[in-house]
Amino acid sequence: MTDTSVLVTGGAGYIGSHTCVELLNAGYRVTVIDNLSNSSKRSLERVEQITGKAVEFIEADILDAELLVGLMKKNAFGGVIHFAGLKAVGESAQHPLKYYDNNVTGSLRLLQAMQETGHKRLIFSSSATVYGLPKALPLTEDHQTNPINPYGRTKLVVEDMLRDLMASDPAWSVAILRYFNPVGAHKSGLIGEDPNDTPNNLMPYVSQVAVGRREKLTVHGDDFETPDGTGVRDYIHVVDLARGHVRALEALFKRTGCLTLNLGTGRGYSVMEMREAFEKASGRDVPFVVGPRRAGDVATSYADCTRSAEELNWRAQHTIEEMCADTWRWQSMNKTGFD
Ligand code: NAD
Ligand code: UD1
Repeated sequence: MTDTSVLVTGGAGYIGSHTCVELLNAGYRVTVIDNLSNSSKRSLERVEQITGKAVEFIEADILDAELLVGLMKKNAFGGVIHFAGLKAVGESAQHPLKYYDNNVTGSLRLLQAMQETGHKRLIFSSSATVYGLPKALPLTEDHQTNPINPYGRTKLVVEDMLRDLMASDPAWSVAILRYFNPVGAHKSGLIGEDPNDTPNNLMPYVSQVAVGRREKLTVHGDDFETPDGTGVRDYIHVVDLARGHVRALEALFKRTGCLTLNLGTGRGYSVMEMREAFEKASGRDVPFVVGPRRAGDVATSYADCTRSAEELNWRAQHTIEEMCADTWRWQSMNKTGFD
C-alpha cells in the first residue's frame, strides 16, 4: 500500500470519478480540483461511499493560476492526473475559443504551476480523436495525428506542449493516454456518465432511450463500409480505463520521459451490435430510426493496444455485456443522473 497523494483535475467527472475510486482502492490519497462545469459534487460523495475513504475536494477552476500554485506549494503531490477539460465535439466547432481557453490555457496554467513548484509527474487525458481519419487499422500510437475538429486540436496542442516541455527538461515524467470510447459504469451503480444535455455519444443516448427519457435512437448512417453498415468503434469499460491510469502512474514512478499510449480494447463493435447488446442487458427495447451520417464520422476506428500492454502490463478486461449491464445498472438506479 502507498500513502502517496495525487492531484486529480476534473476528478468529479465521468472518467475522473472512476479513477478516484481506483486510486483510493490502491492506497493513494486523492485531492480533486473541479469547477463542476460538467459534473456534480455528489459523484465524489459516491466515490467516498464506494471506497469508505475521504476525498479532498477543491471547487475551483484550473485557469486560476494563483490557486494552483498555492495548492502545489502547500502539498507535495506524487503525481497529477489531468482530466479537466471540455469534450463536446459539436460545441467545440461553435465555440472554439471557449475550448482553446479551457483546454489549452487551462493545461498551460497547470503545467506552469507544476513547473514552478517542482511537480513533474503528469498523466494527461488525450483522445483517439487526435488521429483524425484512420489511414490504417488498428490505430497505433505512431499513426499520423490530424484531428478534424477544434476539440481534437486542443488535445493535440496540449500533447505538443508536453513533448516540448519534456525535450527542454528531462526531469519530467509524463503519460499521454489516448482514450478510445469510454462506456460503462462502476459495478455499484453509484457513479456513471451523467451528460448535462442531450447526449452526443452513443451509449448514454441508448441508455436514456431504454430508461424512457428519450423516444428512440437515431443511427447516424447505415451505409458505411462495415459488416452491417453502421459505424464501428472500440468501446472500453470506464473501470478498465481508470485502472489504466493507476498503472500509468506506477510506471511513471519508475521512469522519466514521455509515454504515449492508446487505451482501448483492440476490438470494434458496430452501432447495431451495441444496441442489441444493450437490449439484452437491460431487457428493454431500444427502438431506432436510421438517419444520415453525422459530419466527421468515420466508418471504423479501433486501437492497437500492444504498447500499453507492454509498458503498463495492462489490458482491458471487461466484455461488451458487462459494459452494457453496468451502464444499465447506473442508468436505472439514477434515472436523472446525480440530480
Ligand atoms: P467530464 O466532463 O465528465 O469530466 C471533466 C471534468 O472536468 C468535469 O467534472 C468538469 O466539471 C471539469 N472541468 C472542466 N473544465 C474545468 C476547469 N477549467 N477547471 C476545473 N474543472 C474543469 O468528461 P470525461 O468524460 O470524464 O473526460 C475526462 C477527460 O478525458 C477530458 O479531458 C476529455 O476530453 C477526455 N476524454 C474523454 C473521452 C470520453 O469519451 N469521455 C474520450 C477521450 C478523452
Ligand atoms: C465521438 C467524438 C470523438 C470523441 C469520442 C469520445 C465526434 C465526431 N467524435 O466519437 O471526438 O473522442 O466521441 O467522446 O463526435 N451514433 C449513433 N447515434 C447516436 C450517437 C452515436 O448512431 O445518437 C454512432 C456514431 O455515428 C458512431 C458511434 O455511434 O458510429 C459512436 O459514436 P460516439 O459515441 O459519438 O463516439 P465517436 O463518434 O467515436
